[in-house]
Amino acid sequence: MEIELRLSLEKKEVPDLSNLPFGKIFTPHMFLMNYDEKKGWHSPRIVPFSYLELHPAAIVLHYAQTIFEGLKAYAGVDGKIRLFRPWDNIARLNRSAERMCIPKVDSELALKAIKTLIWIDRDWIPKERGSSLYIRPFIFGTEGALGVKPSSEYLFVIILSPVKSYYEEGFNPISIYVTDTYVRAFPGGTGDVKAGGNYAASLKAQEEAKNLGYTQILWLDGIERRYVEEVGTMNIFFYFEDELATPELSGSILPGITRDSVLKLANFLGLKVRERRISIEEVLEGAKSGYLKECFGTGTAAVISPVGKIFYKGEEVLINNGQTGPLSRKLFDYLTGLQYGEREDPFGWTMILENPL
Ligand code: COI
Repeated sequence: MEIELRLSLEKKEVPDLSNLPFGKIFTPHMFLMNYDEKKGWHSPRIVPFSYLELHPAAIVLHYAQTIFEGLKAYAGVDGKIRLFRPWDNIARLNRSAERMCIPKVDSELALKAIKTLIWIDRDWIPKERGSSLYIRPFIFGTEGALGVKPSSEYLFVIILSPVKSYYEEGFNPISIYVTDTYVRAFPGGTGDVKAGGNYAASLKAQEEAKNLGYTQILWLDGIERRYVEEVGTMNIFFYFEDELATPELSGSILPGITRDSVLKLANFLGLKVRERRISIEEVLEGAKSGYLKECFGTGTAAVISPVGKIFYKGEEVLINNGQTGPLSRKLFDYLTGLQYGEREDPFGWTMILENPL
């Protein structure tokens, strides 16, 4: 399918991209594609960025039939634009689609849409190290119908937002609050896909954490409320004396692409890496005894975010004295080195954007 280009007639001036709030500035164009039962996915097009018109009974507004992805394009030190494992985000988008009864999109077309849209708005990719162009593909049910059922119509949208770091802390350690009041997910639920509703369900706990002065919430498993699952918008890693460990994909954890990259990278760097169950007691005891040397979160938006402080049941413990540890720094430098084209990519994760038009 050809992507129709209906570009803006005026050239929008690129604002100052040096001091960017996360996800509040958008580039001048967006990608749209519709689905209905007769035509399937059709009319892929790139149009000027604008508000969307929706039926007030659109299924997404009532029953949250919506999925999304997050990936980034980077302005390399060699002047080239790089994408990081975009095919993995598209594959996950289609896994989320399957779980949420949304029709899958053609992977090649989705990749072409991402590449074409970025190419058109490439002047909006911030050049500063640590900044990037955040790419947000999402699909939602648009049929106006109040019965609870999968929508018969969908919209696939891609928008782009120049961004800096996700947290105000930048690369400085964040603090996390462990909730035993709320759960994010449980086996058989939707925790392992990127469904909008997962994030709506996390807001209350996140707000409580914030009111108590913590940056993010850390979720425990939904059954025993004992095993660590993930942090608000990230997966989580613990660097114990003898291994780098992260919770195994239990069915209720999001299979992060940065998570997978860190596992492979750490292994490549010669570390002992394990995906396993990690109890909150092990983490707290480890922090107190020094057996836990570092903790960090991973995510596309968050990259690698060191965790310096954990609060659980009235007790606050420091990890690595609340400082960024050498392993977090090393992995961050390596990963971002690949993304900004400073390092050779032995993994084949980066894709250089050539003119797709
Ligand atoms: C990402 O890291 O891309 C995410 O999807 C997190 C987002 C909810 C900000």
